Amino acid sequence: MTIPKPLPYVAEFEKLGFGLFMHWGLYSQLGIGEWAQYTHEIDQSEYRKLMQSFTACNFDAMAIARMAKETGIKYITLTTRHHEGFSLYDTCGLNDFDAPHSPANRDLVREFVDACNFYGIKPFFYHTTLDWSWHGKKTNDLDDKEFSEYLDYLYKSVEILCKNYGKIGGFWFDGNWSRPDSDWQEDRLYSMIKSYQADAMIINNTGLFALGKTGNPYIDSVTYENNAAEPINRQGMSKYLAAEVCKTMNNHWGKADNDFDYMSPRNVIEQLCHSRGCEANYLLNIGPDAQGAIPNYEKAVLEIVGRWVKLNGEAIYETKPLANMKYQGRDFLLKNGKNYYYFAFDLQLAANEHVVGGKANSLRMFTGLEDKILSAKWLDNGAEIKFTQNCENKTFAFDAGVFESGTQYCVRVLKLTAE
Ligand code: GLC
Repeated sequence: MTIPKPLPYVAEFEKLGFGLFMHWGLYSQLGIGEWAQYTHEIDQSEYRKLMQSFTACNFDAMAIARMAKETGIKYITLTTRHHEGFSLYDTCGLNDFDAPHSPANRDLVREFVDACNFYGIKPFFYHTTLDWSWHGKKTNDLDDKEFSEYLDYLYKSVEILCKNYGKIGGFWFDGNWSRPDSDWQEDRLYSMIKSYQADAMIINNTGLFALGKTGNPYIDSVTYENNAAEPINRQGMSKYLAAEVCKTMNNHWGKADNDFDYMSPRNVIEQLCHSRGCEANYLLNIGPDAQGAIPNYEKAVLEIVGRWVKLNGEAIYETKPLANMKYQGRDFLLKNGKNYYYFAFDLQLAANEHVVGGKANSLRMFTGLEDKILSAKWLDNGAEIKFTQNCENKTFAFDAGVFESGTQYCVRVLKLTAE
């Protein structure tokens, strides 16, 4: 059985590697997550009042795109419309539940796309498919006729996004899981997208319970919502599928003031690496506050992770895992041309010859590498190290040492250059 080749735009997507998810909408003003309306059973008319206080006065798309750039993030996926039904873009008369009709009085998606283009970041559009406000009802409560009218509305909403914002990276749909037995007319929607944006990635979140699985043939990537990636077996697939892990920094996608359960920069660095080790992109979420400012902690995490990426970025984007390898622990190797990158996890931290943190052995070994390696050096400080390689039984071993006092890189990357 063969492995299908990725379409060129899918291969490009894989090279982006690291993305930023951004959940922002009217719900951000409540600070209880993006499901606020549903979970707290807020009445439609009550909820709509949030639009009157939505000024977006702290939304600075240029600053966000710059921050992403400095973090080594290559694409941003913005919620152009989330389940509440409010659009950050100009719906061009489809309805008046959009940013231009709010006190913000701006097309926020336009600002987002322009800023992304300025900084060479690819803009992606998250778009909900389910809706809690269309004609005052939830899509789940619509009868067949209403649902088919709703699908026309969804189609026209997406068409606006395809036509009015220039070339985009792709769409990230979310919500088909809410009516699993309905015909969402996916072919119609996706073929329309392709007619305007031939190279747009089409992703549709499979939901929490179907991780890594996908249905429609237009789909270009599987999703691992809030979960660790797993290596994909593409043998015999009819189409090459990319993979993407999306991850919240806490337990909500939209701002949640009383969610204190945040990831650390170490968690983010390890997940980014693990995702790349499984050939998946890593899409890390931030939840801007009521009027669009980025919360301080999220900014700080990005700043720290960005410094790690500056040191090790060469191992992150254009690299691919190898088949038939055997590693110890969480370690793995990625390849790009003549260069290999060994990701060393769980190294110990030493201070004055005492081990003060970490538990794994410093000796690392793996098998399966065929190429003869000429040199090995750490990406973070450029130091060369010794290694032993046996090309007959394909083993490679080295002493990864410990983190010297003053450093704790969380994951260290050793660059191996082949003959
Ligand atoms: C879910 C949620 C949603 C969030 C998304 C991100 O499907 O409904 O709130 O936007 O996952 O993965």
